[in-house]
Amino acid sequence: MTSPDPSATSRYPAGSAAFPHRDLTGLAELAPWELLYLMDEAEQWVDLNRSASKRDERLHGLTIINAFFENSTRTLLSFEIAGKRLGADVVNMHAAQSSVKKGETLIDTAMTLNAMHADAIVIRHQSSGAVQLIADKVDCPVLNAGDGQHEHPTQGLLDALTIRHSKGEIAGLIVTICGDILHSRVARSNIHCLTTLGAQVRVCAPPALMPAGIEQMKVTPYYDFDAALDGADVVMMLRLQQERMSGQFIPSPREYRHLYGLTLERLARAKPDALVMHPGPMNRGVEIDSNVADLAGRSAITRQVEMGVAIRMACLDVLTRKARGVEGWA
Ligand code: CP
Repeated sequence: MTSPDPSATSRYPAGSAAFPHRDLTGLAELAPWELLYLMDEAEQWVDLNRSASKRDERLHGLTIINAFFENSTRTLLSFEIAGKRLGADVVNMHAAQSSVKKGETLIDTAMTLNAMHADAIVIRHQSSGAVQLIADKVDCPVLNAGDGQHEHPTQGLLDALTIRHSKGEIAGLIVTICGDILHSRVARSNIHCLTTLGAQVRVCAPPALMPAGIEQMKVTPYYDFDAALDGADVVMMLRLQQERMSGQFIPSPREYRHLYGLTLERLARAKPDALVMHPGPMNRGVEIDSNVADLAGRSAITRQVEMGVAIRMACLDVLTRKARGVEGWA
């Protein structure tokens, strides 16, 4: 594994001592140095999380609310662990057990959370743009934990960090993202992040699951998975997001696997050391075979989860610095 030098501050422009955004709603608007800054900040937390104590008290006394309007395993738990490892009080709100079920609007829910003087709010919502709507209404930093088909910024960052740990640099890599591109916020955040950092991104999907005009995102679309895999450094597989589909987008899971599933035979078309990634949850035997998902030395899927905790610690730390009166951030 190649570890970058986290003290390489020369990559930041002069005078950029502070991350200049209150919220993290997406990666589309972030400059290369801002993406690198959050990734570099996460390196210390990768090390801490591998140590015995796993504790740092810098967020002691702060309250973080995780408001999840959609199901989650990785993102919810890693934000909770991230906040707790930094000493914060972390409260989880699951929409299914909240007054949302009694008809409360998103804005009223946001105003309610705001009145509780949270120091940061982490939101996952099924509607694109819902997180920005809440950010516009509250007084504290808001972190997007995935909104509809729009963005999943901490996933994009953790994926970039995972790639950097394996490959050393992101610039110049060929990254193939294959699956349900149309409905995927993970694909969008990864495209923003990886193209901004200089990777060549190929996206591959059946025609019905490829967004119109995707070329405008500086990626190359492919409909033939074998061609998309040729010479790739990284292969990122995405699941079919049935919960966002109305109507039939693929003939059958069996046919989908035949054309777009990552098998060992197909993986051989990529570079011999190509990294295999998946944000989870996986549908084994559909978009990825088990012997690929579990391939030692090549699959980074559990490493992605590990990097997720570190990235979320970095984001919570950086975005609450102003409120904590950290020097240079007031
Ligand atoms: N990758 C991801 O967002 O997973 P969860 O839905 O389990 O949070």
